Amino acid sequence: MAGDHLSAYHYFPLKWLESGVLMRHTAAMLELSNLSLSVSIQGERVDAVSAVSLRLAPGRVLGLVGESGCGKSLTAQAMLRLGEHQGVEKSSGDIRLDGKSLFDMSEEQLRTVRGGHIAMIFQEPMTALNPVFSIGSQICEVIRLHLDMNKQQAHQRAIDLLQDVGMQDVEQILKQYPDSLSGGMRQRVLIAMAMAADPDYIIADEPTTALDVSVQKRIIALLLNLQKKRNLGLLLVTHDFGLVAEMCDDVAVMYAGQIVESGSVAEIFDHPAHPYTRALMACRPEVSSPGKALPVISGQVPPPGRWPSGCHFAKRCPLAADDCNNPVAADAWSRENHVTRCLHVGEPS
Ligand SMILES: Nc1ncnc2c1ncn2[C@@H]1O[C@H](COP(=O)(O)OP(=O)(O)OP(=O)(O)O)[C@@H](O)[C@H]1O
Ligand SMILES: [Mg+2]
Repeated sequence: MAGDHLSAYHYFPLKWLESGVLMRHTAAMLELSNLSLSVSIQGERVDAVSAVSLRLAPGRVLGLVGESGCGKSLTAQAMLRLGEHQGVEKSSGDIRLDGKSLFDMSEEQLRTVRGGHIAMIFQEPMTALNPVFSIGSQICEVIRLHLDMNKQQAHQRAIDLLQDVGMQDVEQILKQYPDSLSGGMRQRVLIAMAMAADPDYIIADEPTTALDVSVQKRIIALLLNLQKKRNLGLLLVTHDFGLVAEMCDDVAVMYAGQIVESGSVAEIFDHPAHPYTRALMACRPEVSSPGKALPVISGQVPPPGRWPSGCHFAKRCPLAADDCNNPVAADAWSRENHVTRCLHVGEPS
């Protein structure tokens, strides 16, 4: 599970990576470096994502975890430069696909990137599918947008894609409309659409949250299977640490707009260092005692604009001390495959 790309991340000082010293030599990669995003709240622009650095490599699964409102979706959508029409703006940093900045690309280049190189799978399949077009016409449209295919070839590819995502009677399904399919089937259709142009990276934002537990498991197994078969780089956004253990090679924990801890899944699960990561892990249903209520982290995530000047987690943290009122560097503590934004690692909580 040791993360090749994350190991580079941790062997060298963050500032080298962020200044681009090492990035020029990196292989295929989707990288966020020092990315801050602002949103408008009550007429004021405030950062909702702060100096986030993440790297997604082909063949690897990176989990992005954190409570609601921490900035996971904003970060995930930024990887395709989505969200800008909803008032989200870059305040600093960069996003590079194989070394090229997404911010230097024309609209046409971005259209090729979206779906062609990086595809997104959303949480709620019904909002991502158009209710007035058949499944077939929607899949074929994506195929023909990215691949040089005539109608018949696109139709055949749509059949292959639906079979790849485990669907049967696919000719029939192509004729159906989204509202005649179950949630699980719709999510399979969206996964097929995401695979339509053979992307290198998939961004999956809570892809199973809207589904029944048994369907969730099957969809996750399907995603993982496709990821392996196609050597995809997969970003999985989730609340669920259990899912991270099952699916991911690497994990980044997000709290109030910042990455507070990241590293290989093996390392973080064995040695969670940040008090927030530990608290999230303690809230997993699989580690709580049967019959007992799940533990919750008391307090709330501060919204953008209300972040404290020091450690964002300090108000809820059992280890908080006076020095936590000063800003804490992203790599306040690090070792191989592991970096965390905390000044009190190792202290009992
Ligand atoms: N377009 C926007 N305009 C203003 N505020 C926004 C916008 N998008 C997100 N926010 C705010 O930014 C913060 C982070 O939102 P985001 O959707 O990224 O959280 P999340 O971690 O994905 O949460 P969840 O787990 O509930 O999906 C939230 O406080 C949210 O209200
Ligand atoms: Mg979200």
